Amino acid sequence: MRISIERKPLEQVAADAVVALVFEGRREERFGAGDLLDAGEMAGKPLEMTLLHHLSGVLSQRVLLVGAGKPEKFDPAEMRKLAGAAVRRLKSIGVKSIALELGPDHASGDFAGAAVEGAILGGFEPDRYKTDNDKKSVDSFAVVVPEGANLDDAVERGRVVAEAQNYARGLVNEPANRLTPSLVADAARAMAAECGLECEVLDRGQMEELKMGALLGVAQGSAELPVLIVLRYRPSEAASSAHLGLVGKGVTFDSGGISIKPSDGMEKMKYDMAGGAAMLGAMRAIAQIRPALQVTAFIPCVENMPGGRAQRPGDIVAAMSGKTIEVINTDAEGRLILADALVYARKQGCTHLVDTATLTGAIVVALGHLNVGLFANDDAMRDRVLQAARASGERTWPMPLEDDYKEYLKSAFADLANVGGRWGGAITAAWFLKEFAEETPWVHLDIAGTAWLDESKPYLAKGPTGIPVRTLVRLAEDWKE
Ligand code: BES
Ligand code: ZN
Ligand code: ZN
Repeated sequence: MRISIERKPLEQVAADAVVALVFEGRREERFGAGDLLDAGEMAGKPLEMTLLHHLSGVLSQRVLLVGAGKPEKFDPAEMRKLAGAAVRRLKSIGVKSIALELGPDHASGDFAGAAVEGAILGGFEPDRYKTDNDKKSVDSFAVVVPEGANLDDAVERGRVVAEAQNYARGLVNEPANRLTPSLVADAARAMAAECGLECEVLDRGQMEELKMGALLGVAQGSAELPVLIVLRYRPSEAASSAHLGLVGKGVTFDSGGISIKPSDGMEKMKYDMAGGAAMLGAMRAIAQIRPALQVTAFIPCVENMPGGRAQRPGDIVAAMSGKTIEVINTDAEGRLILADALVYARKQGCTHLVDTATLTGAIVVALGHLNVGLFANDDAMRDRVLQAARASGERTWPMPLEDDYKEYLKSAFADLANVGGRWGGAITAAWFLKEFAEETPWVHLDIAGTAWLDESKPYLAKGPTGIPVRTLVRLAEDWKE
């Protein structure tokens, strides 16, 4: 989707369709909106839409009026949804070029960026393998801004971030037969070459030398070889000595292993690499935005399968740090691969860590599909990530991680067990990771409930959401000592 800025009245913009906002309780008279309000056909409620044709004095053939809700409640998150919904509606009827008016009250960088993000995110469809998909797509999207508003940087940033998010969504959407761990590594190499990142891929032999027993234990049940992808971004000029490590769970398929999952819904477990994909997406945007912070991503990729060489419940493995783990349940594999990746990230000099993973069903029980679950071993780090999440409109909620929970992970035979029993499953999973983050300031984002949308929204297709790419990019950009 080509993105541009128009600096003329909406009436004079040449596009297949132009989009104007109608606020609840604020009388809009242009484009006949007043008549629609009087007739009770539109009240300005969020995402209400009326499409009009051939209005006199309007160059575009179509005007789409979109409800924006109460003006005092309208924020960039609402703008993102509105733009997405407008694009999806107009795309469905074959419109190719769209211009959306920000209006004088919303001609700021935050709103302009959000509108661009919403449009690009709304344009994503997960149907690339349908041979009869209708191939309808919007070619160009313009934000219409008042004369003199300087929003070029915000618009460009919105484009970069949303394209990176769609890139992550595309990877998550790939089925496990078409995106094995080795193919994720190929994708990472190609992206790194394109964006100017360093890319290194550790293979099984290297991981054996490094004694990554927890990661290798998960991988051994699959015919697919594991990889650990490392992507390095170095700023031209670093503003601080901090080095941020981004660690993402890359299980290209989670069958559960020997502790096999029920077949009902198992097809969805191709999205168990959404954390890794988010890190790839975030690095892609970071490479283009170039914040003044050193950032390195670590993406352990494996397939969790119940093959003849698969690890068994009761097996004891040793992670790279030397800690031994009793594998009670082979379906709790994400924490095992992340354990080694977290240790490796620290050995590589990361001073701060964020991991993200579709880690537990329990986080979905706790927070539903609306919030990312956040866990931290450091208050300042927690606040940084929460602030970045808020600024980027990716809802995120802090969860407890008190010392007492550690008891749940006791093992009679090893340093710790890989599961903690029935209760507090998202917390015990986070506690397991904390054992490997050790003293390094660290945040864990459990995205099991938010990385996949089961039903489409007016502004977003069903399937991968690309969460939390925007939070991670914002975190790197806003980093201060
Ligand atoms: N990938 C799953 C978590 C998951 C569940 C993601 C549902 C998305 C939706 C993870 O590897 C897993 O299987 N976790 C188990 C842990 C349990 C065995 C302690 C779970 O949540 O049931
Ligand atoms: Zn699992
Ligand atoms: Zn998993």
